[in-house]
Amino acid sequence: MEFNNLVIVGPPGAGKGTQAKTLAKNRNIPHLSTGDLLREHRRQKTELGKRASSYMDAGDLVPDSLILQMLEERLQRPDCVQGFLLDGFPRTLAQAEELRKMLERQSRSLSRAIILEIAEEILVGRLSRRRVCPTCGSVYHLDTKPPIEAGLCDDDASQLIHRPDDHEEVILNRLKVYRQQTRPVIGYYHRHRLAIAVDASAPIEDVTRLIHEGLEERALVASRV
Ligand code: AP5
Repeated sequence: MEFNNLVIVGPPGAGKGTQAKTLAKNRNIPHLSTGDLLREHRRQKTELGKRASSYMDAGDLVPDSLILQMLEERLQRPDCVQGFLLDGFPRTLAQAEELRKMLERQSRSLSRAIILEIAEEILVGRLSRRRVCPTCGSVYHLDTKPPIEAGLCDDDASQLIHRPDDHEEVILNRLKVYRQQTRPVIGYYHRHRLAIAVDASAPIEDVTRLIHEGLEERALVASRV
């Protein structure tokens, strides 16, 4: 399905993972988070996981040589035939270009890039108060989205964790890396007329609605031309 080859781009803590989970479920496409894929490699203690670890803990980007092969292999699996939602990739202009070429090799192209716009001041509070489920990946926030029972996942009762890179010093480096390396990707998608910009400072359900409306509007325009 042509309109289901999607990426979601935004700074750390903008809500990419939160929105991607809902959007992927609604559109019946896989949610591919490069952060989650890397964390899974780390858990499994693969060679890739071991090599990526120090970069992730410092809040730096993992080298392209490790990311690109992992992603191309994932995009070729049968569940991506009807589309996919990439979260956390591309993070540099080079990755955006590599994605374009990767899809071209598979006779596909990107449909839309959802851009989450949000002021940086809000992000530290979102990340330092985030808790995640290590089993199913559900994302919580101690103030805006607390679990029903403190410290436990609503879905599988696992003990929630505070991600090692969600401590203030590392968060500040992640934001710096975002400003320097990832922000240019937004301009790239505007130039390619693929960008749908959404105000990500609104409450979670409102952001979901804005994304839905943005995608519908662009689909409508495309069907008229
Ligand atoms: P990754 O896991 O991708 O981290 P990130 O991009 O920093 O994004 P986050 O997961 O921190 O934030 P999010 O935008 O998903 O926010 P969330 O929905 O959780 O990457 C981790 C590391 O892996 C990188 O640092 C790097 O080392 C490596 N890596 C990954 N991909 C790479 C790549 N392509 N190239 C190289 N290296 C790569 O929400 C945050 C919090 O806010 C939650 O608590 C949530 O409940 C809350 N919240 C969300 N939306 C709202 C809202 N609207 N209102 C109020 N609260 C909200």
